[in-house]
Amino acid sequence: MRIAVVGSGYVGLVAGACFCELGHDVILVDNDPKKLTALKEGKVPIHEQFLPELLERHRGTRLQFTDDLHEAVRLSSAVFIAVGTPPTTKGEADLSYVESVAREISGAIQGYKIIVDKSTVPVYTSEWVRKIILRNGADPSSFDVASNPEFLREGNAVADFLYPDRIVIGVDSERCASVLREIYAPLTDGSYYERGDAIPQPDGTATPAPIIVTSTKSAELIKHASNAFLATKISFINAVASICESVGANVHQVCQGIGTDTRIGPRFLNPGIGYGGSCFPKDLMAFRSVARDFGYDFRLLDEVIRINEEQRSRFLRKVRSALWTLRGKRLGVLGLAFKEGTDDIRESPAIFLVQSLLQEGCRIVAYDPAAIERAREVFNSDVEFVSSPYEAAKEADALLILTEWEEFAGLDLDRLRDQLRYPIVIDGRNLFDPEVMAEHGITYYSVGRLPAVPHHEIGKTPSLPENRKTA
Ligand SMILES: NC(=O)c1ccc[n+]([C@@H]2O[C@H](COP(=O)([O-])OP(=O)(O)OC[C@H]3O[C@@H](n4cnc5c(N)ncnc54)[C@H](O)[C@@H]3O)[C@@H](O)[C@H]2O)c1
Repeated sequence: MRIAVVGSGYVGLVAGACFCELGHDVILVDNDPKKLTALKEGKVPIHEQFLPELLERHRGTRLQFTDDLHEAVRLSSAVFIAVGTPPTTKGEADLSYVESVAREISGAIQGYKIIVDKSTVPVYTSEWVRKIILRNGADPSSFDVASNPEFLREGNAVADFLYPDRIVIGVDSERCASVLREIYAPLTDGSYYERGDAIPQPDGTATPAPIIVTSTKSAELIKHASNAFLATKISFINAVASICESVGANVHQVCQGIGTDTRIGPRFLNPGIGYGGSCFPKDLMAFRSVARDFGYDFRLLDEVIRINEEQRSRFLRKVRSALWTLRGKRLGVLGLAFKEGTDDIRESPAIFLVQSLLQEGCRIVAYDPAAIERAREVFNSDVEFVSSPYEAAKEADALLILTEWEEFAGLDLDRLRDQLRYPIVIDGRNLFDPEVMAEHGITYYSVGRLPAVPHHEIGKTPSLPENRKTA
């Protein structure tokens, strides 16, 4: 099938490349000339595992890039909208990019086409897209609008797309459903997984992807509700972590105890400095806002957001209580991306914390395996960027871990300690076992666990729980 994907960012580019992988011809449309030039020249504008291989495989054959939306729609049977839906100042989803695409494509609809919303949007957006297309002159029988929310995680985006837990298609007609079923058939009948050249499944066991067919409104709600639930799980365990700090319990032991209950499950019980990224913060605000518009005051989400923000302040308090004063302190920072596996720094807790520490007069020396280029655009020369974790630690008054990159968990702790001016690590992602850190002569602060102090330091360094120290 010939498919147009409008918007070639994290979602559009991955979806476009993966549709090619499923045997379709894809025209990727973007209105950012710099991005288009880079893509046409063979560059890969985002850091994402397997994306370079897929672009290499399909560029110039099944995969084309253009800024001509009208022509791309004219040539395609299905048009996926994957443009951004950023938050407005009031926290609603800004749907102006979606609307502008809907307006522009209406003139190019000849013959039957399906218009599929892949961007994360509030309930009723499909209805609006349909109205806008009609208002601009398209024949009502020539198109259907569907919702096909995307659940990929940055850092695992290609594997998530090709090996999804489920595919949700929100449709209001069987004709439209059958086009979407055909597009995803290689995943739902499992034929893609039998191919010798398939992108490997991370845990090696691929089963055909289940497809869930709903109304458009339900599909739109499924996406918002999924993100809100995952964020709630994170804030819940962070609230539990705060209690653990107060009473001297270990949040990981608590997680093990509750996560082995199959009704709860262990995933997303990761205590730390909170969620960030381009999705959870904006999607929670948008969900709360659309719920309010339809008469429901979703106060649970207020609390989820508040706990998430508080995790950052708690971490800053931890840095202060480990170092006393901050002005002039040299801090090594490991991690700037909002999570591991990506170069995306949008709404990254790490970026927020570095900004706060700079305001307090700290000198920051930072390392990230993928996000330095993007972070440089934010901080210019205010932050010194280095090319290894050990360089970040060199002569630092303390080392902060702000992103859960696997590379950091494998660091040589003796080498790290010897680099530091004072062997203090404040870990916002709980990458290490406190006992092991103490054995390596490192004073270690983490989230939801008591600080660990090397044996020879006991008595010299305060080891009371966080709240008792500052009380
Ligand atoms: N990033 C994620 O992990 C993720 C996961 C699931 C869903 N989503 C949702 O998918 C949508 C896109 O997210 P993203 O992270 O890919 O955004 P992005 O900002 O990386 O990409 C959006 C792209 O759309 C292009 N664009 C904007 N207006 C256009 C127009 N009129 N014509 C052509 N191109 C246009 C932009 O130039 C940009 O390249 C959002 O609604 C987001 O919430 C994102």
